[in-house]
Amino acid sequence: LNYQVPRTRKEIFETLVKGLQRLEYRGYDSAGVAVDGPSKTTTDINGSTICLIKKKGKVKALDEELYEKDSLDLDEELCTHFGIAHTRWATHGEPSALNSHPHRSDKDNEFVVIHNGIITNYKELKEYLITKGYEFESETDTEVIPKLIKYVYDNRETDNVTFSTVVERVIQQLEGAFALVFKSRHFPGEAVATRRGSPLLIGVRSEHELSTENIPIQYNSAHFKDGVQEKNSHNSVGDGRAVEYYFASDASAIIEHTNKVLYMEDDDIAVVIGGKLSIHRVNRRAGEDPVRAIQTLQMELQQIMKGNFDSFMQKEIFEQPESVVNTMRGRICFDSNTVVLGGLKDHLKEIKRCKRLILIGCGTSFHAAVATRQILEELTELPVMVELASDFLDRNTPVFRDDVCFFISQSGETADTLMALRYCKNNGALTVGITNTVGSSIGRETDCGVHVNAGPEIGVASTKAYTSQFVALIMFALMMSEDRLSLQTRRLEIINDLKVLPELIKKVLSLDEKIKAIANELYQQRSLLVMGRGFNYATCLEGALKIKEITYMHSEGILAGELKHGPLALIDKDMPVIMIIMRDGCYTKCQNALQQVTARSGRPIIICCQDDPEMTKNAYQTIELPHIVDCLQGILSVIPLQLMSFHLAVLRGFDVDFPRNLAKSVTVE
Ligand code: G6P
Repeated sequence: LNYQVPRTRKEIFETLVKGLQRLEYRGYDSAGVAVDGPSKTTTDINGSTICLIKKKGKVKALDEELYEKDSLDLDEELCTHFGIAHTRWATHGEPSALNSHPHRSDKDNEFVVIHNGIITNYKELKEYLITKGYEFESETDTEVIPKLIKYVYDNRETDNVTFSTVVERVIQQLEGAFALVFKSRHFPGEAVATRRGSPLLIGVRSEHELSTENIPIQYNSAHFKDGVQEKNSHNSVGDGRAVEYYFASDASAIIEHTNKVLYMEDDDIAVVIGGKLSIHRVNRRAGEDPVRAIQTLQMELQQIMKGNFDSFMQKEIFEQPESVVNTMRGRICFDSNTVVLGGLKDHLKEIKRCKRLILIGCGTSFHAAVATRQILEELTELPVMVELASDFLDRNTPVFRDDVCFFISQSGETADTLMALRYCKNNGALTVGITNTVGSSIGRETDCGVHVNAGPEIGVASTKAYTSQFVALIMFALMMSEDRLSLQTRRLEIINDLKVLPELIKKVLSLDEKIKAIANELYQQRSLLVMGRGFNYATCLEGALKIKEITYMHSEGILAGELKHGPLALIDKDMPVIMIIMRDGCYTKCQNALQQVTARSGRPIIICCQDDPEMTKNAYQTIELPHIVDCLQGILSVIPLQLMSFHLAVLRGFDVDFPRNLAKSVTVE
């Protein structure tokens, strides 16, 4: 919003589009904007009209579209203006202009909203709103929000209701994660934004000294009388003159305009009216800081995109406590110990009747299949095959109508996996996609599936997508075994540990310094072997792949059970070895392998359970992990190896995010 210094509509578009382009690194499939301006379809409310422009594809495509709207006067000068824009990375509904944001309340664009996050109770809300006569035009979870705000507004008790009060009522009904910015024709020139679980910050740009750099929070009881906001409040920033406010989910979108930023907290409602920004909350939480401070960011753009990290890969490794939560959100009910994967629900009966599960993928995605095979066998009591897509095709593997085939792929575009999918479909099998990219080829061509919701992954070496695929497959196993009485104790211990998984991941990430120190001892080596068995065999394969991919060292994941059958010949005092020895069903066998290695003068680094005196009493170098149920160990045990490969690559001076010769998405055979 800008006061006194007029901006042309063209300049406003440029600001919005530039902001979106700065966020494109997060992944995108469509984009849209809403600005004040004539829209052919709408009627006049308060002299205000909202023009909505949305486009599938890159932000550039939207940008071109903006200048083709002949109904808009691009040179018109506006003193007060509030525009919103959004790039979408699909979670519900394929990429399309209709599914992209801003979403609207109705054909007159009375309320428009942009949303970052997931609304988990959208189905209930949608059903309710449909009974009230609302018609939905998209397949998104977000669309319930503009419909709901119109419903709340139309049913208001007083005509003096404020925009923020209406928003407050709306968010009371929402479950899940969100950062939201609202614009309305009923409140022209006013902006309301709020968040819960998804990031949202406000940039402030002023030609003048700001009246304050600490915005006191207004609690409703003090500030609102019967839902009517008091005018002339002193609890705001900006004197109404030449102030611009920028709401964004990431500082990279706004840093070129201002480095003065305040971070909103969950359930804060920020309001801009008459050039003044204020923040209020419904209730004060115990111990809460009653002000939001405007901070001065010192970071460069590149740095902001990567947060405090030097590379996307490192950022993505450290995002895992949140990305696994996003995979589970709205799917596991920890009160009733039930798991519902919406995308598979309707096919569950058919899946339960099948004769065999076949899990197919390439690279890291294949390792997610290896990692979860054993628990799938145990909880589904079905034979489970794991297949590398290329080899599966080379063998013309027999596939039948009563097979269920899973296609695991971060990108959803990997050519080998896609061809294996078409092959299985032709053979009449039911096909299930496990992808991180809604609207991808694999997502579209499978009969049903699960979106792992890890968020866009930019580093070529996959990290958070792996742990999210892992969790998604575990959830599938839990869903399949819900009615098996004999498996309930087992299910319960898994569900209980999934609940604390984010905390346990944080503990593993706190070992980073120690792992860096070990990397410092290893980085000049030519080779690095990773050994383990049982639930941790996949970790060995995945750890070795990470090391190969980004450090260019030779690395091999070795099944400890095969040690005597060949790999033992590699062992001597100079060969670096990492061994994974956890207290599970393979503990004794892994200890035997350790003896075989040390008997050949090997000095392995051991990834083990914390407080395992057997491992810690010897003078081995250990990386000790918190306790977790055996079938989830692989989620924790892979993280030290992700970190290790990262530090090795940095020490060896390589580009961690873009390793030589490799591509993020391999769309050729
Ligand atoms: C490429 C990437 C790997 C990835 C594999 C499978 O090789 O470099 O990181 O694991 O493809 O990709 P997908 O998108 O199918 O999971």
